Amino acid sequence: TLLRGRTLSFVRWPEAIDDQGAWSYEEDGGLLLRGGKIVAAGAYADVERQAGEGVAKVDHRPHLLVPGFIDAHAHFPQMQIIASYGAELLEWLNTYTFPEETRFLNAQHGRRIARLFLDEMIRNGTTTVAAYCSVHKESAEAFFAESHDRNMLNIAGKVMMDRNAPGELTDTPQSGYDDTKALIAEWHGKGRQHYAITPRFAITSTPEQMEMAGALAKEFPELHIQTHLSENHDEIAFTRELYPQAEDYAGVYEHYGLLGPRTLLGHSIHLAEREADIISETGSVAVFCPTSNLFLGSGLFDYQRFRRREKPLRIAAATDVGGGTNYSMLRTMDEGYKVIALQGEKLNPFQSFWQITRGNAEALSIADRVGTLEAGTEADIIVLDSRATPVMELRMETVKSLAEELFLLQTLGDDRAVREVYVAGKPSKSIVAA
Ligand code: GUN
Ligand code: FE
Repeated sequence: TLLRGRTLSFVRWPEAIDDQGAWSYEEDGGLLLRGGKIVAAGAYADVERQAGEGVAKVDHRPHLLVPGFIDAHAHFPQMQIIASYGAELLEWLNTYTFPEETRFLNAQHGRRIARLFLDEMIRNGTTTVAAYCSVHKESAEAFFAESHDRNMLNIAGKVMMDRNAPGELTDTPQSGYDDTKALIAEWHGKGRQHYAITPRFAITSTPEQMEMAGALAKEFPELHIQTHLSENHDEIAFTRELYPQAEDYAGVYEHYGLLGPRTLLGHSIHLAEREADIISETGSVAVFCPTSNLFLGSGLFDYQRFRRREKPLRIAAATDVGGGTNYSMLRTMDEGYKVIALQGEKLNPFQSFWQITRGNAEALSIADRVGTLEAGTEADIIVLDSRATPVMELRMETVKSLAEELFLLQTLGDDRAVREVYVAGKPSKSIVAA
């Protein structure tokens, strides 16, 4: 297939709004897809010449072709508690989240929600998500089966939790270890599926379970690890009580060997300097979840300070659905912009689009495969319509630059702006919508 449109892809972090060397943009661009990969990219005329005779052509002009969005942290079993009123983190978990997650013992329920969750990812242009499943092995089975059927590159794991949660929602250090190992054997590396070792957070794991998680991390150094860190003040205080020997919250994960370049630390809002230092030194990733952090009243992630500090943090961005309130990475970065603005800083639209494509791919160590439109990478591509709604169409009349257009897309756009989604070269949004 030969796609035609306005192609935009990043080569590195854009230092400033006029740092044109950070991206490549073709007003009349072409992408040649074959066997699920992008085999040629560039000016349309050049790519067309390389394509030769008989190739199917899809003209997406005047729309933008960009890499599929990546969501670095979301909870698929929380679809039916998104928009739950009135609580901060710990109360929200106990009142809404944990009771909801008990339903995922039922495999049929898990399969239904996994299907609807990945439909929603596709609808919003998210082609890769790092997802938490419930404690039940069945929920991870359901997620991976659905993801594999769609040929999506997703990262997921069964949550490990053996205390401070309802009995139906806990495993044990041994069963969490065994179930995780079985899931790794079955799913990791099957097609495009990736397993993430997933101790939910320090509060819901005993030291024995943390040790088991560390053992898994040692046995499978190529796997991602995902957990939560320093989201809420009460959570931090409770963690300090549960792990009195630890130097600080991040020190708990450090102690059990859970920090490293494949570790994704959801939220990481209220970090002491020592914590930020070890996160940086270990190459762990702080995951910015703006809609969730606002919704749960958790706090303001200091993106620019973390990025500019002497020991900078690797940063990813994510929805954190169902603490997060929207499935769209455009809506997420709109709120992210405001969170950063509240701290007297800015994130320009090129930086923002870098973050949800190449930036998140780098944070997840998958940038050699997805997150750009470079030839040789896997064909996860989305089509964005900057005139998707009457309000956007009207505003576009006064837009004079690509930067302004991207900012409009971020500020006003949502799933309606996503016209098509190619997953490994296969049109997938039109299928979801049908
Ligand atoms: N910390 C531990 N579990 C969760 C969760 O499900 N959502 C959020 N936002 N924070 C958590
Ligand atoms: Fe979360």
